[in-house]
Amino acid sequence: MDYAKFIAQQVEEIRATVGNSLAINALSGGVDSSTVTMLGHLALGDRLKTFFIDNALMREGEPRRVLKTFAKLGVPVKLLDARAEFLAALKGLTDPEQKRQAITDTFYAKVFSRLVRETGAKFLLHGTILTDIEETVAGIKRQHNILAQIGIEPEKAYGYGVLEPLKTLRKDGVRALARKLGLPGEIANRMPFPGPALSARIVGEVTAEKLALVRQATAIVEKELAGTKTFQYFATLLGDQATGIRDGRREFGAILVLRCVNSVDARRATVARLPWPKLERICKRLTSLPNVNRCVYDLTPKPPATIEYV
Ligand code: XMP
Repeated sequence: MDYAKFIAQQVEEIRATVGNSLAINALSGGVDSSTVTMLGHLALGDRLKTFFIDNALMREGEPRRVLKTFAKLGVPVKLLDARAEFLAALKGLTDPEQKRQAITDTFYAKVFSRLVRETGAKFLLHGTILTDIEETVAGIKRQHNILAQIGIEPEKAYGYGVLEPLKTLRKDGVRALARKLGLPGEIANRMPFPGPALSARIVGEVTAEKLALVRQATAIVEKELAGTKTFQYFATLLGDQATGIRDGRREFGAILVLRCVNSVDARRATVARLPWPKLERICKRLTSLPNVNRCVYDLTPKPPATIEYV
């Protein structure tokens, strides 16, 4: 694939569609939204307003890290604190699809709609990739960012048009494009992270307390497995609890799952054969977190499992 040509075509198309209007986009720091930010910035300059929306579901230190990286690239990004709004929308929800739906609604109908009104933007630039569309259309999983492909007309529903410049690419294509656009390796090669963020790493209701726990667990796993040449690794908090012993007393506590998989494009995945001492070390660290008394390693490939739990 000729990425220079792809960039020129997308820039042209974004300019032609947006015309003299303004566009907005949300940057999460993942490879898809970072690539869209660079494409949009190239096409529109300061007529693209980029926001980092803190939805309370991000990894440790993420807002600060993303803002710093893009400041270095000369792309201005505004931080928007929407934590309370997302937590309120997720309150009481346990069904995975309802959780995704609540995040979608909060993003599109509330936060983006408000940003569109406040900035006067007519378009939203979005990092949807081909795999997101395929899995949603096939009914495997409702990716939080799919609209038109399932019959939602964003202009009618939310009052703005959506542009999806990456919708013909898969993850490997986006990574190559990111490098071509000058994004640093830490972003271009960054492991995938789901749009619904840490809410996809909590089975059952999402609360601020569970998020704090899964955030700490994620930081431990990412540190321990950094440099491992695997597709994706993370921790998930299960909805059940298990009996354990702490300080000589019986405790009914949380169960964390460690997942580490190999894959090319996330359509299929096999489980990484991590060295036993590494697994034991991670288990020890995860069970030192408050109220966690059990850690398990998931041996299930995709299919029959999906990579994420939610
Ligand atoms: P699953 O769990 O379906 O995940 O095997 C496949 C890959 O996609 C990521 N993932 C998502 N990415 N929005 C995204 O942008 C989502 O809603 C979403 N759900 C899962 C997951 O982390 C894995 O890499």
